Amino acid sequence: MTSPHPRPDIAPEFIPRHIAVVMDGNGRWAQQRGLKRTEGHKRGEAVLMDCVDACIELGGVEWLSAYAFSTENWRRSADEVRFLMGFSRDVLRNRRNELHAKNVRIRWAGRRPRLWRSVIRELEAAEELTRHNTGLTLVMCVNYGGRAEIVDGVRTLIDAASNGQVRPGDITEETLSQWLYQPDMPDVDLFLRPSGEQRTSNFLLWQSAYAEMVYQEKLWPDFTQQDLFDAVLEYAKRDRRFGGAIEHNA
Ligand code: FPP
Repeated sequence: MTSPHPRPDIAPEFIPRHIAVVMDGNGRWAQQRGLKRTEGHKRGEAVLMDCVDACIELGGVEWLSAYAFSTENWRRSADEVRFLMGFSRDVLRNRRNELHAKNVRIRWAGRRPRLWRSVIRELEAAEELTRHNTGLTLVMCVNYGGRAEIVDGVRTLIDAASNGQVRPGDITEETLSQWLYQPDMPDVDLFLRPSGEQRTSNFLLWQSAYAEMVYQEKLWPDFTQQDLFDAVLEYAKRDRRFGGAIEHNA
């Protein structure tokens, strides 16, 4: 599909390799219109698909991670949790062929316990169908928490250490990252959160250590490809130093 918004002219070295997006504001969007919160989530599905197209159109974006259901979202009403589980299952089932046709590789990042078996089945089917694709990697973060991911990684690492597979003294940042949900996931370059909230909410904590944060006001159901392009333009203007000093010419 051709993007209805013109692609901004950005040099390849300023395109973020990994964009993480918090799809926030669905509930507020629906409530402002006197609709059920779930109507906002339904609208959010199409917005996510538009973002996939926008990343493909941009070129150079290799990973797009979307926060679909957090380990904290279980605190929502039983009705909303049930809706979000069924909805995630259906989105995966309904969209996987379309994403496959776009050469998108789908991955799942999240915790298995508590997640509906039917959701896990769809996540794994989508991963399997698209595993050899070479285009954009779309990470569906479902039952995901950044702290939970680190705890799960440390647990497996300790198991490996107690079996003698790993020596504690050999553990480095690189080795620990190999025990996270997606070991080949690169660091997040652009962390994008719409809806006026300015926090990470436990999303990709490890991978976002040096991410550029871009916050926008629009609620997710109103988010457009142009908003994504604007965020990338903002990112391209940032001076990323990764802890290094500012270089002076004098
Ligand atoms: C946050 O808005 C949004 C969600 C909890 C769900 C978003 C999920 C999708 C758009 C579907 C994607 C599906 C997959 C499988 C990737 P909110 O309810 O927190 O909004 P609020 O802050 O206004 O209450």
